[in-house]
Order: sequence, then structure tokens, then C-alpha cells
Amino acid sequence: MRLSLRFIIPLAIVLAAIAYAVVPLVDKLTLKWFVRDLDIRSTLVANTVQEPLLELVRAGSKNKMVAFFSRITQDERLFAIGYCDSSQNQLVATKTFPQGLSCRDIERFRDPGPQVLDSARGPLHVSVQDVEREGTRIGRLVLVHDMSFIQRRSEETKQYVFYFFVGLAAVVSLITVVIAQLSWRGWMQGFHALLRGEGLLRPAEKINVPELRPLARDLRSLIRDVKSEYRPRDEAQLTWTPETLRSILRQDLRGDDILVVSNREPYIHVRRGESIEVQRPASGLVTALEPIMRACSGTWIAHGSGSADAEVVDKNGRVAVPPGNPAYAIRRVWLTKEEEAGYYYGFANEGLWPLCHIAHVRPIFRTGDWNQYIEVNRRFAQAVFEEAKTDDPIVLVQDYHLALLPKMIREKLPDATIVTFWHIPWPNPEAFAICPWRAELLDGLLGSSILGFHTQFHCNNFVDTVDRVLEARVDRETFTISYGRKLTAVKRYPISIESPPSESLIRKTVADCRADIRLRHNLHPDHALGVGVDRMDYTKGILERFLAIERLLELQSRWIGKFSFVQIGAPTRSSIEQYQEFDAHVRALATRINNRFARGDYVPIILKIEHHEPEQVYEYYRAADVCIVSSLHDGMNLVAKEFVAARDDEQGVLILSQFTGASRELPEALIVNPYDIDQCAAALHVALTMPQNEQRDRMRTMRGLVQEFNVYRWAGRMLLDAASMRKRGRLLEKTPAQTRQG
Ligand code: F6P
Repeated sequence: MRLSLRFIIPLAIVLAAIAYAVVPLVDKLTLKWFVRDLDIRSTLVANTVQEPLLELVRAGSKNKMVAFFSRITQDERLFAIGYCDSSQNQLVATKTFPQGLSCRDIERFRDPGPQVLDSARGPLHVSVQDVEREGTRIGRLVLVHDMSFIQRRSEETKQYVFYFFVGLAAVVSLITVVIAQLSWRGWMQGFHALLRGEGLLRPAEKINVPELRPLARDLRSLIRDVKSEYRPRDEAQLTWTPETLRSILRQDLRGDDILVVSNREPYIHVRRGESIEVQRPASGLVTALEPIMRACSGTWIAHGSGSADAEVVDKNGRVAVPPGNPAYAIRRVWLTKEEEAGYYYGFANEGLWPLCHIAHVRPIFRTGDWNQYIEVNRRFAQAVFEEAKTDDPIVLVQDYHLALLPKMIREKLPDATIVTFWHIPWPNPEAFAICPWRAELLDGLLGSSILGFHTQFHCNNFVDTVDRVLEARVDRETFTISYGRKLTAVKRYPISIESPPSESLIRKTVADCRADIRLRHNLHPDHALGVGVDRMDYTKGILERFLAIERLLELQSRWIGKFSFVQIGAPTRSSIEQYQEFDAHVRALATRINNRFARGDYVPIILKIEHHEPEQVYEYYRAADVCIVSSLHDGMNLVAKEFVAARDDEQGVLILSQFTGASRELPEALIVNPYDIDQCAAALHVALTMPQNEQRDRMRTMRGLVQEFNVYRWAGRMLLDAASMRKRGRLLEKTPAQTRQG
């Protein structure tokens, strides 16, 4: 149908344009013909009346002449007749003769002058004919024809032409639709037949040519492969759900086992006196991967960092999770305090973290930390080797803690498909080059089959860095890097969240969340509320956010006592000095601002620096009027997407830093530069005064985006790419070595 419309609409436009051009043309032409007819008619009448007229002129009887003329004008079209003698001052005419048309005037109507006179009763055709006696002109006969019938006919002609084109358009459209439908159906049938291996293969079977049978078989299997690759790749057709992922695993990956490796574990067992509590850490990585693992099963290898982690595992360091509803296993890797200090706090978080986030904190590189980093990566590689059930597992390596792992896995399991995802930004080559072990890090990462980043910008930075630092072949068209006889594809996979969120997170209504949170903080039911949810990290722009709140209260005093901001801060990396200092700064700034604007019970900033479970965080998202994400630099930032996913009431405003990956996907947020305090204060005021329908329009678009590009799609795309890589690998293995080149 759409295809047909695509034909019909342009066709209708073309026909309308032709009609528009043709109708005036036809009109002009018919007018010309009619005028010519009237000319001929006038000459005929003049010739016919010549004799009797000469008699009447000779007799000099004007009355008789008028009576004669009146008889002739009985003709319905001949409207008036007049006679002018040669002295041009004697006009003898019928009563109908146009007033104001004198014997002198008639001169201008002589051929080839204009023959149409505009009168009060419409256009008149005026023809002036000589009256001669014995070859001498004695006067002029003026014949005036009524032209209104021409106008009537012209109208009719226009109508007929118009109907003709409408009819033509309908007929041509009908023919076009029929032909288009027939050929589309035929083409599609042909295509389907081709995909089924018919058409091409049947004739070979029918004519029973045994030589062609192997070719037919190969072709059929190739078509099957193409088909299976083609179907799930048609991303627009799919709503990405856990079931979609499961079917990719079943069909495209033939049920192959999945191993996820990350530093952070999704469930942490913590001892609280006599009992053991399970915590879910504040981590974008965990938020994204946990639903994937619930859908796919498999094993998640991670550092066992909880105080009671060792108490709940089996002899292989494994525990089934989620607690109470197990769907997959965590395999815990144990680290000593020294290892954790060097690998996690030291090299990963004092070195790589500030190196990759341009947040003006100087990276610290210590050789001791680097050695621990190598050692711990080796420990993770050993765990992968132990957990792999086959020689060619699919291993999803996560983040900057494990940059050396891909190559280490490749050495132990050369046939593994290793998909590494770098969750933080990748800086430009100059910035990265200050790392003393830059080449080793790149060498480790290029053990991956696929290396993923959130944005194309980070992919470009990585490829540029490799180009600068290593002797590698970089293909910028396919975005692949060939290094040490091994190919790595560098790809963009913007990470996301589970959307719609799980039922437990949005069970409580928005109205209840609003009322309960305000009650909890002793606020009026109409009190405006902002929320920020972050790890207490200097990259998150929490200080800048507070300064913007202070500026808002300075500039718009109406918000003093009417607006508060809840900052949820998850404690993080607290044994690192910069983090301790940052924590102290945040608290001090909040206190200073609160002291400045406090009125009775009222404080503008409510600090909640403690661990919050996802249900508690969602309650704040749903209670807030505005959420601020003001990172100074962030790979993606999933808080922005969580806030959007939480707002099924389509209300609430998101203020989002332009330095997050999320800002590229959510332009309907109020995008700000967190370093520009005045701009952020203004954005806050705009957010707090934004009409409900504008909030709805923005929120609806953002929710659509987050739902469409949810975390199942993120993981699904990586798994599909891994699947086609494996398929290609298998095909290559079957190809004889001498034909492999090129
Ligand atoms: O952004 C990188 C990242 O690994 C995230 O995935 C996560 O939000 C955060 O760091 C967690 O940090 P940590 O594991 O050190 O608490």
C-alpha cells in the first residue's frame, strides 16, 4: 500500500500541474477560434445586407434603416448594428448599440485592431465593415456580437478539461497500483523462493543433473546462513526483551556458554552482626549487565569484595544468584588487601580512572600498582579458563580494571570469542600517552575479537591511539585493527538499562512516592524537589551542581523555602585520598549553602551519603520534579536513563551535562555545561517552571528512546556481532588454506 502511495502521490501532483498549465491554454485557444468565427460571421452578414443597405442609404430614411437593422438583430448573437456615413458623424444604429461608441471610436476596431469591447453586459465583439458603391466607400457598417456565450462555453470547456484530468489520474493510478502490487508480490515470491532454495535449485533437481546437486546443497546452506543472519539483524522489527536475547543465544550462538568478567560483582554479601545481608552495588556496569545475565544464565566472574562473600560460596567459589530466584552463577575471585590496593585502588582508580576522565585530577602511576594489576588480571584469566566449559567460549570482559585480560584469555583459549566493553571514556592519544604502560594496555585490549565503547568519539580516540602507539594496521573503513596476526573490530554500543524497569522498582505509584518522600523530609506536599544520584566521585560534578543551586537561590529568592535538592551519594573508593577530599568538599559546600539559606526547618540541600538499594533510588526518581546529572565527563551515565524510565507519569525534567554519552541520545533533556554555573542555575529555574505539557512532550520522547534502545538491545547487538564473527571463523576453517587470501 505504501509502495502504491509512493507512486500515486507524485503522479497526482504531476497531473495536477499539467492540468494547471493546460486549462488556461485551452481557454485562450477556444477564445481565439470563437473570435475568428465571429469575424467570418460579421463579414458574411455585411455582404448579405450590402444591397438593401445601399438602397436605404440612397433613400436617406433613417427610420427605415433602424427598422432594417432591428430585424437583423433578431438573431440571438448579433447584438447591435450601426451605420456611420463616410463623414463619420452620422450614426444610425439599433437601440442596443453600445452607448459611448461613436463613429470616431469605431476606427480603432478596424482589422487588425482589437475586436473585443468590454461593456457593462459583458464582452462584445465589434466588427467594422466598409459599405461601398461602385468601388467607393460611402460608409461603415458596425456589427456588434454578444460574446457571453463564449464565456459560458469557456467555463464548460474548463470543467471538461478538469474532469478529463481527474479521470486520467484515476485510471493511471489504478493501473500503477495494480502493476506495482503484481510486480512487488511477484518479486517477493521470487525472493522468498530464492531464499528457500527454490527457483535456482529446482530446475537442477528437475532436470536431474547429478553434477549440480552438491552446488545446490552448498547454495541452500549458504542461503540458510544468510537468512539466519539477516532476520535478527533487522533491528527495527524487534522489541528487545530477555526472550529476544535468549533466542539469539539459542539460534545464533547454538546455546554456547556465556562468561562475563568484571571487577565489581552484582550481589555483595555483607555481614551485619549475626546475619548476612545482600547488597546491590551502585554501578552502571552492574545495572546494565545484571538483567542480561538473568536472561542468559551463564557465569559472572568478579572480585568477591563483600565481608561475607566467602561464607556463602561453594568449594569452587561459586554462588547462585539472584538470592531466592537463582538464574545464573557468580564465580568469585579472591584478592588480598595488597592486591586490591595495587590493582583496584592504585592502578585502576588512581591511574586509569583520572587518565580517561578529563576531570582535572592528576593520574598517579606506580610500578608496584602496575605489577599488582598484571597479577590480578592473570588471576581473572585463570578463573575464565577454569569456568569455560568449551575451548571456544564467549567471554564478555568488562572495563578498565581488566585491560590485560583479553590477551591473557586469548593465550589460554585461542578460539574464544572475546568481547570487551570499555565503560569509561577513551581520551585522545596525547592524553593517553602519559601512561607509562600505554603500549602494554593496548596490546592487552587488542586480544579482543570486538572492543566496544559508548560513543563513536571514543572509538575514534582509541583507533587514533593505537595508530600512534603501536605498529598495527588500522582500517578506518571497517574500523578494524590488525595486530599480531589478529583482527579486532572496534565498535560503538551505547549502553542502556532495563526498560521498562522491573515491576518491583515502579510498583509504588508516583503520587505515593511524592507524598512519602516529602513527608519523610518534613516538606510541604507542594514543595519542589530535585534529586541527584551518584557515586561520590569527583567526575560527577556534584560541587558544580550545588553551586548552581546556590546561584538559583541568589537570583530567584522565590525558591528559598520552596525548593530542596536531595543528593544521594553512594560511598565509593573511600581509601583513595582524592575521594576522601572530595567527600569532605561536598559536605562542606552543602553545609555552607544550607547555612546561608536556612529558614526554620528548611534547608536547600539534603545530603544522603549512604548506600541505597535500587527500590529506594527509584522512589526518589518518582518523587522528584527535576533530576540533575552534571558529570564533568562520563562514558554514558545511566542515572539519566533510569530517571526517564522511572517516570511512567511522563512528568519531571532532566538536566543533563553535555559531557555525558547520554546527552547524545537524550537531547530533549535540558543540556548544560556543568562548568557554567549561571547556565545551570537558569536551567534549574526553567525546569522548575516548565509547563506540564512540555514536560510530557520531552519525557515521552526520551522514554521512547530508552525503551527502544534498552540494555537487551545493547547486549543483543554485541552477541549478534560475536555470532557472525564465529560463523565467519568456522567458514574460514573449512576453506582450504591456499584459497583463503584476499
Ligand atoms: O563507569 C565505570 C564503572 O565501572 C561503572 O560501570 C560503575 O558505575 C563504576 O565504575 C563503579 O565503580 P566501582 O566498581 O569502583 O564502585
